[in-house]
Order: sequence, then C-alpha cells, then structure tokens
Amino acid sequence: MQLDLFSDTDNEQEQIRSLRKELEEMNYQYYVLDQPTISDKAFDEKMRRLQDLEARHPEMADPKSPTQHVGSDLQKNGGFEQVAHRYPMLSLANTYSEEEVHSWYERVRKDLGTAPEIVAELKFDGLSISLWYENGELVRAVTRGDGVRGDDVIQNVKTIKTIPWHIERTDIPASFEIRGEILLPWKNFERLNREREEQEEPLFANPRNAAAGTLKLQNPGIVKSRGLDAYLYYLLGENLPGTTHYDNLQAARSWGFQVSDAIRRCATLEEVMQFIAYWDIERKHLPVATDGIVLKVNDLKQQSILGFTAKTPRWAIAYKFQAEKQLTVLKKITYQVGRTGVVTPVANLEPVLLSGTTVQRATLHNADFIAQLGLREGDSVWVEKGGEIIPKITAVEKHSDLTGLQADFRFATHCPECGTPLQRDPEQAAWYCPNEDGCPPQQKGKIEHFVSRKTMNIEGLGSETIDLLYAQGLLRDIADIYALQAEDIAKQERLGQKSAQNILESVEQSKKVPFARVLFALGIRFVGETTAKKLAKAFPSIDLLANAPKEALVMTEDVGEQIAESIRQYFTKESNRTLIERLRNDGLQLTGESNNILKSNILTGKSIVISGTFSRHNRDEYKALIEENGGKNVGSVSAKTSFILAGENMGPQKLEKAQKLGIALVSEEEFLQMIEEKI
Ligand code: IVH
Repeated sequence: MQLDLFSDTDNEQEQIRSLRKELEEMNYQYYVLDQPTISDKAFDEKMRRLQDLEARHPEMADPKSPTQHVGSDLQKNGGFEQVAHRYPMLSLANTYSEEEVHSWYERVRKDLGTAPEIVAELKFDGLSISLWYENGELVRAVTRGDGVRGDDVIQNVKTIKTIPWHIERTDIPASFEIRGEILLPWKNFERLNREREEQEEPLFANPRNAAAGTLKLQNPGIVKSRGLDAYLYYLLGENLPGTTHYDNLQAARSWGFQVSDAIRRCATLEEVMQFIAYWDIERKHLPVATDGIVLKVNDLKQQSILGFTAKTPRWAIAYKFQAEKQLTVLKKITYQVGRTGVVTPVANLEPVLLSGTTVQRATLHNADFIAQLGLREGDSVWVEKGGEIIPKITAVEKHSDLTGLQADFRFATHCPECGTPLQRDPEQAAWYCPNEDGCPPQQKGKIEHFVSRKTMNIEGLGSETIDLLYAQGLLRDIADIYALQAEDIAKQERLGQKSAQNILESVEQSKKVPFARVLFALGIRFVGETTAKKLAKAFPSIDLLANAPKEALVMTEDVGEQIAESIRQYFTKESNRTLIERLRNDGLQLTGESNNILKSNILTGKSIVISGTFSRHNRDEYKALIEENGGKNVGSVSAKTSFILAGENMGPQKLEKAQKLGIALVSEEEFLQMIEEKI
C-alpha cells in the first residue's frame, strides 16, 4: 500500500514535469510562431490537469510553471521596442459550460455579499493590444508580450483606421490606457489566404494567426494592405469618467473608439445565459471572429474587492463557444505537390457534415503535424471547423486496430508524382521534391502561375487546357507557350479555331507585359509580386539581375538572405538560363523602364485622386500608371484636383466633395483608354 502510494506520487510529479514542458512548447507555438498545434480546448484541459496536480503537490510549486504566467509573444530581435506595461496584462479564466459560469457567479456573489451586475460582451478572437494616450495623443501600442513587457507596435497599429491617433476633446483623462483586440476581419483574411494560395505561401490557419503574423511585420505598408481592425473593451487609468465598466466603455465610444454594440448589463444569471445563447448563433453573421463571451463585474469598486490571481482577474471570466466538430474516419493520407515542389499531406476522410458543408478532405500541414497527433490511416479522428475556414483534424479519438511497425504512418520518402527522393527544407517544416524541371505538378503549376491574371495575363489557358497540352508534350515549360501553333490548340477537345485564335492573341499581347511582372511570372521561389517590383527597379534588366552577387541582391529593399539565395540558385541553373534565352528570343520584356523615363506625358501637370475599388489593377498599380504617364497621385480631394479615378464603392465623403467642387470622375475603363493601356 505504502509503496503504491509512493509510486503514484512519483508518477504525478513526472506528469507535472512533462505537462509543464508540453504547455511551454504549446505556448511558444501559439504566441511566437502563430502556429497552434492543438485546439484551445485541449490546451485548457491540459492546463487544468496541471493545476489540479500542482494543487496536490505544493512541494513542486514553481513560479516558472505555465500555470503561473501568461504565454509570451515576445520576440528576441523582433525589431520592436520592448516596453513595461503599467498594469500587468492578464488573461481570462476560461469556462466551457453553463455550470462553470454558474459557479463563478455564485463565488463572486458570495465574496461580495451581494448579487453583482454583470456586463456580458463578445470575446473577440484576435490578439490583445494596449493603447496609451497622453494628452489625447496615441503614444504607444503595446502587445501583451509576457504580460509584464510587450512590443511597441505603434507604427503598425497606426495603419488601423478605427484607432484614433489624436482625440480632440476636453473630457478625457490627461493620461489613460485602453485595451482591446486587434483582428483581421473575415473578408480580409479570406482575401489574404487566396493571395497566399496563389503564391504557394503557407496559409494562415485562422484570422487570429493572420492578425498576429501581420502585427509583427516590420513593414507598415504591408500591414496596411492587409486591413486589420480593432475593438476596444477595457479602459484603465486614473480619473476615469465613470464608476462602472459599462459607463467607461460608453465614454470611450463617444471619444471615437470602436466599442462593440453587442454588450449588455445583466441583473441576473438568466439574462447572462440569454446573451450567450443569442450570440452563439448570431456571431456567425459578424464580420470578425469571436470565440466566446466575456462576463465582467460592472462596478469598479466591486472589481477591486474581488481583485486578481497571478494570471487572471477574479471579476471576469470567459465562456468559450464549442467549436463545431465531428467524429470521422481518416481513410487515407495522400499528398499534393505544389508549383514550388512542396509536398503537403492531405487527409481523405469519411465524408461528414460540418457547419452545413460536407467535409471529406482536410490539410495535415506537414510531417511534424502528423507526428504530433500520432495520426495513422484508419484512425477515428475529430474534425473541427471553428474559427477556421479550412477544416482541420484536432485529435485522435481512437487508433485503428493495426498494430506493429507498419501501423505507424511514415511520411513519403519519394515524390508521389515523379518518384524523386524528397528533401527537407531546413528553414521550414516542409518536405519538397527537388525535381523542378521534370515533376509534372511542378511544371504545370509553373505554367499556371505564368499565365495567371496578375502575371502574364494570358487568357484561355486554364488548368484543364494546360493539362491537355502537357499530356501531349506540347507544353512542358513556360517558353513552350510561345511556340504553340493554332492547330495544336484547335484540335483539343472543347477547343476550336476561335479559342485557338484568342489564346494566341493573348500570348502575343503578353510580350508587352512589363519586366517586373515577367520577373514575378518566372516563379522564382520567394519572389512575389512586391519583391519582383523592387528587384526590377534595382536591376533594370534580367542580365543585371542574373549576374548580381548576393551582396548586391541583399541591398534591395525587402530582399533578405533567403530571397537572395533563391535568386542566385535560380540563375545558376543551366536550364533556367536556357529558358530565359528562349523567352528573350520570343520577344518578352526582359529589361525595365528606367525610373525617370516616362511612358507618356498624357497626365503631366495633373493631380489625380484614386478612390474606390478596381478590377483591372490594384491601387498601387494605378498609382504607378499615373506617375509613369507624368501625373501626380494625391490623397485628398481639393480645388486643385484634376480628376478622380473612381472605382466601385467610392468613399461617400470624397464623392460629396468632388460634386461640390465640380471635379470630374473618370472610370477605370476611361482611365485605361486615356493612357492607352491594353494589357
Ligand atoms: S477583458 C483583465 N474583454 O481574451 C481582463 N478580453 O483569453 C482583460 N478578449 O487577453 C481582458 N475579447 O485578448 C476582455 N471583450 C473582451 C475580450 C477580451 C477578447 C481577449 C483578450 C484577453 C483574452 C483572454
């Protein structure tokens, strides 16, 4: 008996050690890498298990335990100034059931000796930010960091339109802090992932990760283009306007902060439950991700009576919504080989209905993800589609009955498409097929990228047509496009003379595509649209670029070691050099416009405002087109504005001002005709 007890204790101490280690690693994955490895719920369960065990083993108390501090997103050399928080930035205790909410409420009531008024609000699923205002000026915007110190990301935060830089009011405290959540709205998240998919860059799993990744970027221009937003939910400081949390938030709203309308003062627990039930359904229509409800004691005096634990306030609690999940069978693991050769494992599932759609495939990310979950073919698994667009496997319910060595899943050692031994990319978790020039999905992927709208814009060459022409050996690389004959195309199924003619016309037009886009179209690893533009400016011909040493490449804005190395590798390869020669003979633009040579003087002396959204080019491209044709792009409408390049949904204020001043609106098509741009 004595011995048993002893070994139990031993075992529990071991569990404490291993849970601490595991939770530290998960915190790092979540906060630093923005790549969570398990669901929030599973994480919380582990944390609770650790809390229980630690309570039973006071002899193992350790202030460094993950139960005693919040996860940290501080990055060494992150490039931001680290700042100490004035008030520690804590987390919230999570609950997952009505009973737990009930017991929290009862505890609070007992501690206060009276039933408190509760404020119920949405729990936004982004990352917390602390904004400091001094005399109405935004002076710092600090991330949570480790709760004690955070990164000042003010330059990035200033790109968020709903966060005021100045508050011109007399009824604000001289110094105050307001905290809230930075989010990437669903619409912008989906757009970003679509762009990343096109570029074969790893997708963000959910808007939270995308927002976190964005906020850590060192380039506010890119941050701005991603379109972050923020909701504020906590006012701190001395001389606050109200004596309740609710009144303070109303005041903050009147000062110009975005405070959600989904907020309710509840006198009873029933009202709290109604709020929870209502938003569990309605949240699906919100523009941003939410993962629960936060309940806060409204009265600030009562809050201070209740106080804080080391990690969380006792006066607040989070109720987390259940993610929609289903149990199904992982039938088989297959692979997808992308344009750059990255091999992504895919789970083929027994179809299940999840949030109204049938799910039969889920990404498995990479070999590490499979190993972490210990996945095997035949396992019963949980699939979730919570805050995520792409369904994902979150846990194994039961392993398949297979035993022995062959039961363990082994990641492919050879390319499933061409049989070449796979290599591991040391920088990333991915395995990839190095057979760039002979692996069908890589070759076809490169052609698809080359013809796409943002690159050479060759119409009529969709992926099915590319498949057909590839299968017949007529199209093996991008230069083959320029050797295509009308009869080759016309004899294909579903294509005829007319399509052949259209395709060839579009191929001909593509020869005028400017150098920067050709460079992007080549599909050099890590050279996306923006980098290609910068390279084309710094190296105005392909020969200059091809022969540039690494030291010269890294002098270019946004080009680091990794990109420079990839460019060097590309041009060192004989087959790529031959390819470039063929493209040169076909008449493609392999030299850029020198920066100060204008394409035309059509817009000389004109001040042009761009407003609204466009379909043919993005705003940056229109800005460049204005400048290349001698014009000047200005931000706001004034009497000096020559005209407005007006897209869809032009801003109402600009429209009103333009009408008042009698300034002409020029549509996208009219503008392109004006500068005679055909591509
Ligand atoms: S109040 C001291 N209110 O949830 C308590 N937090 O899991 C301060 N969050 O770190 C937080 N929506 O980033 C509060 N309406 C809301 C919230 C909210 C989302 C986040 C916040 C916090 C985390 C805790």
